[in-house]
Amino acid sequence: MSAVILESITKQYGAAPAAVSNVSFEVPSGTFTVLLGPSGCGKSTTLRMIAGLDTPTSGRILIGDRDVTQLPPAQRRISMVFQSYALFPHLSVRENILFGLKVRKEPARDYDRRLGYVAELLGLAQLLDRKPAQLSGGQQQRVALGRAVISEAPVCLMDEPLSNLDAQLRHEMRREIRGLQQKLGITMIYVTHDQTEAMSMADQVVLLQGGKVEQLDVPDRLYARPRTEFAARFIGTPPMNLMALAADGSRIAGCEIPFEQPVSPLARKLGVRPEHIRLTHMEGVPARVQGLEYFGADTIVVCTVGENTGITLRVPGHLQARVGESVRLAWPAEAEHLFDQSGLAIRAGS
Ligand SMILES: Nc1ncnc2c1ncn2[C@@H]1O[C@H](COP(=O)(O)OP(=O)(O)OP(=O)(O)O)[C@@H](O)[C@H]1O
Ligand SMILES: [Mg+2]
Repeated sequence: MSAVILESITKQYGAAPAAVSNVSFEVPSGTFTVLLGPSGCGKSTTLRMIAGLDTPTSGRILIGDRDVTQLPPAQRRISMVFQSYALFPHLSVRENILFGLKVRKEPARDYDRRLGYVAELLGLAQLLDRKPAQLSGGQQQRVALGRAVISEAPVCLMDEPLSNLDAQLRHEMRREIRGLQQKLGITMIYVTHDQTEAMSMADQVVLLQGGKVEQLDVPDRLYARPRTEFAARFIGTPPMNLMALAADGSRIAGCEIPFEQPVSPLARKLGVRPEHIRLTHMEGVPARVQGLEYFGADTIVVCTVGENTGITLRVPGHLQARVGESVRLAWPAEAEHLFDQSGLAIRAGS
């Protein structure tokens, strides 16, 4: 078994606020966990501690029931892929892939079999004699993956491995990495700041902010039941709309029409996802069209609702509307999320 467990991990660099603060999570063996969050939230620091490239100030790390907190990287049975794939330019694809095995002095009689398997799996068989400079970005990425896969380590750590690739290739590589992880039953911990990547690849997402775990959940629940305003805004494109409420909870701030039922007096903001809002002319709250963004399959309409600007909704096709036009917006009660003064969800909608 190769589950990875972090127990109250903290990393302090000098007098600065902790880069990682009391972070705990468990990655079950053979599953895919994404560490997600904005720049500087502690993703790489967390991954480097799991890899053994950095030591926690306090806390424990277990890999497959073994306390590895003080062990060097070579003794942790992990493989790693980083943003800069760091292929050796003077070595061929074959030599790049075999490099780690040679350094670790693994038995040479296995090289051909293992190389053959990896080359087949990653579609590199025709490229083994080329140098990295003779490969496309996606092919180089696959060589970097090949180095990780050939190690046959049960745990693989990846830090933003796709950030150098264009959008199309990223998409393909996401699927390839996920497919590979499932096929080989690898325990994967994958760092990204891209929420679409996290949502589409992960079994479990650890959302980090300021070195702390903001929410740890499966993608569905992270989307449907964000526990904080931060989580609500970080996941989804466009993000969840957050509308300020009047102090007595009777209406949206600046909106003449009260709710049928006032919301909790503790609620300060009402959250609704763009895809749950309908554009109507008869029912719902009055709004004014601020702008339109056409994306082919759908149009994002940006509106002002009472005192709230930048409220977005998604409508199918190419919506023709005038900027400044008066409309009404409606949404089902189940789609409503309420947040209190401190940004915590009071009641999650669906
Ligand atoms: N060696 C170091 N010495 C001092 N501070 C560090 C060191 N490494 C990281 N930090 C700080 O720790 C915090 C977390 O950094 P980290 O690299 O983990 O962020 P990240 O989430 O990976 O961000 P990004 O998305 O930009 O890669 C940052 O404030 C960073 O400045
Ligand atoms: Mg980083």
